[in-house]
Amino acid sequence: MTTTITICDTCKREDWAKRGMAQTDGEALAALIEAAAKGVNGVKIRRHSCLMGCGKGCNLAIQAPGKLTYVMGDFDADQDSATGVVEYARLHSESESGQVPFKQWPQAVKGHFVSRLPVLGPEGE
Ligand code: FES
Repeated sequence: MTTTITICDTCKREDWAKRGMAQTDGEALAALIEAAAKGVNGVKIRRHSCLMGCGKGCNLAIQAPGKLTYVMGDFDADQDSATGVVEYARLHSESESGQVPFKQWPQAVKGHFVSRLPVLGPEGE
């Protein structure tokens, strides 16, 4: 089953203005994640403007129908983060429940989990 990475494309790190970037950090991270996910089976990317975790950007969510959802934040827009997020999403796609054993977590996602949400059933329970 396909796992979707939803990346906030309006996130800005604290020093964003000082760095004079033309794009937001979220746009930069989204582009890196999109490139890293090319050719990776079971992983889809979408962008969304503001996941309401603005003080802890860059933020993203990892989701698939019928599986645990993971919200992550505090990422820099760099290659290590992008590669780690895509690898975690790939492992999420291969997992029946969405849970990925800690020993398989890429180093780049450690310390970036904000929350884990249980599956919502068809009746909202
Ligand atoms: S701007 Fe990214 S969470 Fe609000």
